[in-house]
Amino acid sequence: MTTSSRFLDARRARAAAALTTESDIVLFGAGDPVGIPGGADQTYPFLAHAEYFWLTDHENPGSVLAFDPNEGWTDFVPETTVAERVWEGRGDAPGTPLSRLASWLDSRKERRIINLGSRINGIQADHAREGELRDALTHVRRPKDEAELERMRAACAASATAYARLLPRIRPGVTERELQIELEADFFRAGGDRTGYGSIVAAGSNAAVLHFSPGSRALKAGEVLLVDAGAEVRRYTSDVTRTYRAAGGDPGFFRDLYSVVLGIEECAVAGCVRGAEWRDLHMQACHGVLAGLAGMGLVRGEPAELVDRDVHALFFPHGLGHMVGLGVRDASGYLPGRVRSTRPGLNMLRTDLPLERDYVITVEPGIYFIAALLNDAEKRARYADCVAWDRVDALMDFGGIRIEDNVRITDGAPENLTAAIPKSLDSALLA
Ligand code: GLY
Ligand code: MN
Ligand code: MN
Repeated sequence: MTTSSRFLDARRARAAAALTTESDIVLFGAGDPVGIPGGADQTYPFLAHAEYFWLTDHENPGSVLAFDPNEGWTDFVPETTVAERVWEGRGDAPGTPLSRLASWLDSRKERRIINLGSRINGIQADHAREGELRDALTHVRRPKDEAELERMRAACAASATAYARLLPRIRPGVTERELQIELEADFFRAGGDRTGYGSIVAAGSNAAVLHFSPGSRALKAGEVLLVDAGAEVRRYTSDVTRTYRAAGGDPGFFRDLYSVVLGIEECAVAGCVRGAEWRDLHMQACHGVLAGLAGMGLVRGEPAELVDRDVHALFFPHGLGHMVGLGVRDASGYLPGRVRSTRPGLNMLRTDLPLERDYVITVEPGIYFIAALLNDAEKRARYADCVAWDRVDALMDFGGIRIEDNVRITDGAPENLTAAIPKSLDSALLA
């Protein structure tokens, strides 16, 4: 699945228009492999900087893509060494030998050089200008082109296959780690080439740890299992969460809470239309959390007033979602001029912008019982009138429920790229 030059040309044209440099040179560093401290000749797996990769579709370590607004683009690639040919079987990458970069720059001595992508040795940083151009480039990277969407669809399809194969394995006694191994192996069997981020497989109270790393804990009857993991294809990832309940005991509370989270999620997915403000969808979800918890008797009061008092942040302490694609937080961020709120909950909003066609964004509301947030004397005093703390205390081992899909904005109804992964209440209640 190589990106054809048609797409790369179009991306470079969009980037050139956004970079608005009259005479500045822009260099995009691919980056270099990072050695593992104390690890002899071992390095962390190399991934080229997303900005470089988007413009070249190459991972070539050490490469530099140069943009001269008067002349266009030049790909400088390091010459392959004999050692690399011998040990890694590496061939020559297409492009201009990197050894020519110095003279290329020398002949443009009077011009300012801006370094995007990874930092390049010997290039002076100009943080203010880099920040401006990076924001502009991030903005043009937001709408996904067909080549990107093809990879994202392949990643979502691999995830869907793996989640389907995981279901029969989710039984009391199985460990988080065993499930992670099977899920990831199925990502790869179904066409994924990496996991897009550290897989979260969390049983019981571990489901209340937002970025939990799976361990040896075994799932018990009647417990929740939260799985947040996604296959990646050629650098484009899916980011999916499903929450299940192992058979056993009374599923009543899970049913009620799951229905609340699912209702919020489906409402937010439906709201992903052109022009919708992400912050508004987030606030609507906060309202849904409090309306749902009020319906279950866990909080008391008018949801709108409770939102004003930030009560939702006790149970839903993260943002509604983030942009996804070339990396799990691809091109997220705020529209220039917008600043991050300091309000609890809103301070974690990774994205604050109006949605546009071909943006792909995660929708991932959750409700959790997190000891680190709820066992806080100051909060208990502040919210003594509106939180049923005795009920909450009885739920501290429950964990949490999150449901996450990846949604493409279109000219009409949103397209849910992860719709093939079941999320109905029935699918979550395991036999
Ligand atoms: N997988 C981390 C997240 O959902 O953002
Ligand atoms: Mn996720
Ligand atoms: Mn996510």
